[in-house]
Amino acid sequence: MDKNKLIVGNMKMYMNTFDVKTYLQNFHSKQINKQVVLCPTDIFIPYFLGNDFSVGVQNIASTNLGAYTGELGAEQVATIGIKYTILGHSERRMYFNETSEEINKKIKQAIKHHITPIVCIGETLEEYEKKITLDVLRTQLSSCLTNLTDIELSNIIIAYEPIWAIGTGIVPTNSEIESAILEIKTMLKKLFNSFDNKVLYGGSVSSNNIHELEQIKNLDGYLIGSASTKVDEMLKILEVVSI
Ligand code: PGA
Repeated sequence: MDKNKLIVGNMKMYMNTFDVKTYLQNFHSKQINKQVVLCPTDIFIPYFLGNDFSVGVQNIASTNLGAYTGELGAEQVATIGIKYTILGHSERRMYFNETSEEINKKIKQAIKHHITPIVCIGETLEEYEKKITLDVLRTQLSSCLTNLTDIELSNIIIAYEPIWAIGTGIVPTNSEIESAILEIKTMLKKLFNSFDNKVLYGGSVSSNNIHELEQIKNLDGYLIGSASTKVDEMLKILEVVSI
């Protein structure tokens, strides 16, 4: 995996068809020599494919193809050219009761079909205030990444997303993010003998704080939520991010 920064847009369940068409007309990715992955709502994927950025999904099923109404299989996603999937986002854990066991199965499904999983981990505000962030990250990592082969592990990207920073406009200090990233990389090495995984930061990333976040040394990119649905914001962020 190369070391260029990766910028992933988690477009969640935002935007209608008109918004998507306007967004794509205004998004001139050719001017931007960076790795960009946009993850729109599933029905809009065909609009996003064939541009100069990669396209990802926000979730996949934990099973092989079959009678699972409303689900989206990794094999289906792979066959239309999707390269990435976000997995284990806190909104899925919170609102859809997704467990680490399921996330683990989804990771295996993704890798089986050559889709790179972007696995989200992060602490709640309560856990942050109790100063147990690193313990929480360790527990989430070891349960989500259990029983994976070295090759599977080497294909995973981790996104550190403190839950209290998502959609709140509040961002941890650079030194807090730096120590979480360092801990994640150390844990990957210690627990799984995995050395080269990209680790992203996510939670209220915007054009207002990107200059500051760019000072963080060991960061490999960003997972950007609502700001990724606004072209002006995205272009401003992309201009600032170093490769
Ligand atoms: P946010 O979301 O940038 O809107 O805070 C980030 C995320 O949920 O991935």
